[in-house]
Amino acid sequence: QELQLNLEQIEKGGYDHFMLKEIYEQPNAIKDTYRGRLGVKNGIIKMSGIDDNIEKFLNANRIIVVACGTSWHAGLVAEYIFEDLARIPVEVEYASEFRYRNPVITEKDVVIAISQSGETADTLAAIKLAKSKGAFVFGVCNVVGSSIARETHAGAYTHAGPEIGVASTKAFTTQITVLTLIALKLAKETGKINNTDYRYHLQELDLIPQKVVESLKSDSHIQMIADTYKNARNFLYLGRGYNFPVALEGALKLKEISYIHAEGYPAAEMKHGPIALIDEQMPVVVIATKKGHYDKIVSNIQEIKSRKGRIIGVVTEGDTSVKELVDHIIEVPETLESLTPLLTTIPLQLLSYHIAVMLNKNVDQPRNLAKSVTVE
Ligand code: G6P
Repeated sequence: QELQLNLEQIEKGGYDHFMLKEIYEQPNAIKDTYRGRLGVKNGIIKMSGIDDNIEKFLNANRIIVVACGTSWHAGLVAEYIFEDLARIPVEVEYASEFRYRNPVITEKDVVIAISQSGETADTLAAIKLAKSKGAFVFGVCNVVGSSIARETHAGAYTHAGPEIGVASTKAFTTQITVLTLIALKLAKETGKINNTDYRYHLQELDLIPQKVVESLKSDSHIQMIADTYKNARNFLYLGRGYNFPVALEGALKLKEISYIHAEGYPAAEMKHGPIALIDEQMPVVVIATKKGHYDKIVSNIQEIKSRKGRIIGVVTEGDTSVKELVDHIIEVPETLESLTPLLTTIPLQLLSYHIAVMLNKNVDQPRNLAKSVTVE
């Protein structure tokens, strides 16, 4: 018994929980994921799974992403990146809906399946269906040799290392990293991005690990915010554009480990429903980084404020306008708009972690949830 405990403590590497360890591993996990692939100096992205099948991608009518849970959120971020940079139409599907919907799939479709474990039953079934219709299926998995990695025609691994905490953290940011590399590579191949922008994206991506380190420095400040709101019954998370999926992911993290009801919404949709819920009891986390509809987000914040909602703003370092309006501010370093999800996700992971710890919940193994869902 004692030996078992000690072993677990060693595995946690000095952290109280695997989840916290995995949150802190993100700078290295992201770097490990692009290392050997991203050539900042020579402007090359090497990914054999893409290189060997480049015609499939270049001739694709569209890309369909299939995934579940947090991996589905990474797929939503990918939709923004692929459409914005590579101008390829993307649809993102819950694997469980896709597989039973009799979807229209043709040989001109490329399906990207995203899965940390590589074992999710619905995702695996969606892949088999897409293959049977002649689509080319590409996997983005973390677990080497997993069922999904084997079942797909080609793929690119995330190199996050083992993820033990049921709530996914480093798998999410490394999935976004791989998907960004793919989007940039395709944008270059199709000429949809000019060389200056392309080079700039590569440089900025290479700066992300250090900026994640910076973002992690808000930890103790976030702990104080967690203490203020730990007894809230509901939370709302808002974001626009690239950060809309991050709002969904932030809400999911809180639900999963603290059992507090939380909803993520595109900020502009607030007026079509959630605004009715806002009062002084409702903490609202708003992702309001400088680029990406900043002015619009600021007016959304004003709407929440006039209804006395309590606002936690996630902003770009040095922001002054949002600061005046919100109750709490969490800063992340400046980066390209397409890369902001890799930074804005970090404080939301920490916020849910600290609230769950303060509520004495089982952070690494929340009730009713499994790390890998191999049954329907
Ligand atoms: C479960 C896990 C989630 C994960 C989802 C998809 O629900 O608890 O953390 O996002 O499955 O898993 P996958 O391994 O396919 O990414």
